[in-house]
Amino acid sequence: MYILCTMITLGIESSCDETSVALLRDGRVSASLTHSQAEHAIYGGVVPEVASRAHLERIDGLTKAVMDSCGICPKDIDLIAVTDSPGLAGALLVGVSFALGMHSAHGIPITGVNHLEGHICSLFITPDNVLAPPETGIQTPFIVLLASGGHTAVYKYVSFGNCELLGRTVDDAAGEAFDKVGKLLGFPYPAGRAIETEAAKAASGGRSNIAFPIARFSSSDKRYCFSFSGLKTAVKKFLSESGEDYINDSGNRAAVCAAFQRAVVGSLADNAAAAAAAHGIKTVAIAGGVACNGFLRDELRRRLGAENVICPPPHLCTDNGAMIAMAGQLAGQTGRLRFPVMDPGRGI
Ligand code: KG4
Ligand code: ZN
Repeated sequence: MYILCTMITLGIESSCDETSVALLRDGRVSASLTHSQAEHAIYGGVVPEVASRAHLERIDGLTKAVMDSCGICPKDIDLIAVTDSPGLAGALLVGVSFALGMHSAHGIPITGVNHLEGHICSLFITPDNVLAPPETGIQTPFIVLLASGGHTAVYKYVSFGNCELLGRTVDDAAGEAFDKVGKLLGFPYPAGRAIETEAAKAASGGRSNIAFPIARFSSSDKRYCFSFSGLKTAVKKFLSESGEDYINDSGNRAAVCAAFQRAVVGSLADNAAAAAAAHGIKTVAIAGGVACNGFLRDELRRRLGAENVICPPPHLCTDNGAMIAMAGQLAGQTGRLRFPVMDPGRGI
């Protein structure tokens, strides 16, 4: 049982290419600002050194702006929650060092937050920014499909701090596959949204005779695991065999996007639905940047029934400080505060 308390939590996220700071007051998001680093677009992927530098340039200003917009100063903050794992080492270092600076200078309690746990906690923030306490919100246990640019996994969520990993990708993450295929097709990084938009044109145009293979695992220890690197290779081979003229045709490009998206979404939905059925659980929630994908949302709703699928609003699916603040608040309420320890490779 969680108890809502009057507490102001500052959430700081800097694990990859979004600098995001949010204030959660009494369980509501008072303010949230995110700077998405456009600097990486020309490189076709995140450049770690560029990310660290960009975080450094923004984090102070974003934090001030968030506090000013709510009319509060550091002494009003009850808890700082900062992403300390997993992520790019230099990028995490900026957020953790900044948070530790505030902690030391103002004596504000602090907690480290696992970024993946943060994504899952985005589920507890409702679209109208009113906290849905876990006991009145989503019935536990539920299955979470977490699909982002860096991670893809299926979990059984029991309670805060009690989340069982059922399966994960053995190679690329789903978002990474979107970004890599997008690069092959000439879309700027990150390419997930552009591929979805392009694929929608194929749906209206009617060309859908392409089918890409997707890996499935039959062994019991990998039953809910994913693999997307072979899919990316299949798209690459298809494009090189089809030639430049083929892909310069917008109808063909849309058909390739639709076929690729079908394959990824099919794999994500298959594993999430299979895990739910095997565990006798009705509710499936999605989180992470790929959870913005409308085709994924529709596919899960079609298979499981709309009432059984929980989708956070898109701005809470991609990296944001509010989900980190939410995880910090739940850590405080459940006696799980921990001093930040940077660990680029730690999962949950
Ligand atoms: O969660 P997130 O913001 O960052 C990580 O923790 O990685 O996820 C970013 C990923 C990118 O790979 C991006 O291409 C993907 O989410 N993404 C999408 C969509 N919107 C963002 N993938 C598919 N469809 C979308 N609409
Ligand atoms: Zn993320």
